[in-house]
Amino acid sequence: MSETNFLPGTYTHQPQNGSVSWRSPSNIALVKYWGKHVDQLPKNTSVSFTLSNCFSETTMQYRKKDGAGYDFEVYLDEKREEGFEPKIGQFFDRIKNYLPFLEQYAFRIDTSNSFPHSSGIASSASGMSALALCLMSLEREFMGGELSEEKFKNKASFLARLGSGSACRSIDGPLIVWGEHPDIEGSSDLFGIEYPFDVHPNFSNYRDTILLVDKGEKQVSSTVGHGLMKNHPYAAVRFEQANKNITRLIDVFRNGNLDAFIEIVESEALQLHAMMMTSLPYFILMKPNTLEVIDRIWQFRNDTGSKVCFTLDAGANVHVLYPDSEKEVVTSFIGSELTQFCKNGSFIDDKAGTGAQSL
Ligand code: DP6
Repeated sequence: MSETNFLPGTYTHQPQNGSVSWRSPSNIALVKYWGKHVDQLPKNTSVSFTLSNCFSETTMQYRKKDGAGYDFEVYLDEKREEGFEPKIGQFFDRIKNYLPFLEQYAFRIDTSNSFPHSSGIASSASGMSALALCLMSLEREFMGGELSEEKFKNKASFLARLGSGSACRSIDGPLIVWGEHPDIEGSSDLFGIEYPFDVHPNFSNYRDTILLVDKGEKQVSSTVGHGLMKNHPYAAVRFEQANKNITRLIDVFRNGNLDAFIEIVESEALQLHAMMMTSLPYFILMKPNTLEVIDRIWQFRNDTGSKVCFTLDAGANVHVLYPDSEKEVVTSFIGSELTQFCKNGSFIDDKAGTGAQSL
C-alpha cells in the first residue's frame, strides 16, 4: 500500500452542519517506537497493547463555511485551549491532501481525557486518534456511507500517525503492530494493523497498572527525543534490536512464555531510556522512584515467581504489566509496596482493550 490509497473518495453528500464523537484509548508499547524519518514514518516496527481506561473523548462540530483556510477552535474540558491549536493546525496541514473538506468547514473540537491532565500520561495518542476518527466519520458521511470498515480504520490510523506516530496504534486492539516487518505480512509504516497471528490466552486481558511517579511536564518532548535519534551513535543497532524483538515476540505470543515476554519487554523499556541517556544532548526521564519501583518489582519476582514486569514510556511513570490470573496478588503487592513511590499514592488501573468506539 502507498499514500495514494488514502487520497479522498468522491463526496456526494455534504451537509451544512453536524457533529461526530469518538472515544479513543491510549496504548502502551511493548517494542518501542523511538526514531522516525519524515512524515512520521518509523525507523523500526513497534507493537503495543491498546489500553481501556485511559482514553480521550472528542466531539467535532462542523459547519459549512465560505473562503479558504482553516477555521477551528479547540476546547479541553469545555475551556478554550489555544495552546493546542498550533499542533492541530500543523496536523491539518499534514493531512489536507487526504481530506479536502478541512478548508470547507468551520470546526469546534471539544476534547476531554479520562486521566488527569497533570498525570504525565501523554494524551497525544488517544487525542490524535480520536480526532482522526472524527474526521473519518465525516469523510464516510460525505461519501454517502460508501467506505468499508477496513478502509475506514486503515485511513483513521494513517491520519492519526500524521498527528502523532504512536496514535496510529490506538484505533483497534488489543495488540497492534506498526511498521513494516518481514515476518508480519500486511504490516506497514503507514498505519497500524491488528496483530495477525495466534495469541496465547496468557495474554488475554493483560493488566497494566500505571504508577504516577512524577506528574510534572517532561523536560524533553517525544518529538525532540525522536529527533535526537538522527545522529545517534547507537541508532542503527537499536533499530535492529527492536526488529529482532518483534520476531522473538511472535513466538512468545504464540507459546505464552511469560519469562521470555518479560525479558523482551523490560529490555525494550531500558533500551528506550538508554537511547535518551546516550543521545547528544543527553537526558534522563526516570526519577529515583522509577528505579525504586523497578527494584521492588525484580525483588518481588525473585521472591514469589510472579510474572509481573514493567515497561516505561517517555517519562518517569512505570507501567506495571501482569497476567490477568495474577490480578489479586499483584494488586496487593502494588498497594503494599509500590504506591508509596507514587505522587500522592496515585495510580491508574488499566488493562488491554479492544480499541476506539464511536459515541
Ligand atoms: C516512547 O508517538 O509521542 O511512547 O510521533 O513525535 O508524536 P511523535 O511521538 P510519540 O512517541 C512515542 C514514543 C514512546 C514509544 C512508543 O509509544 O512506541
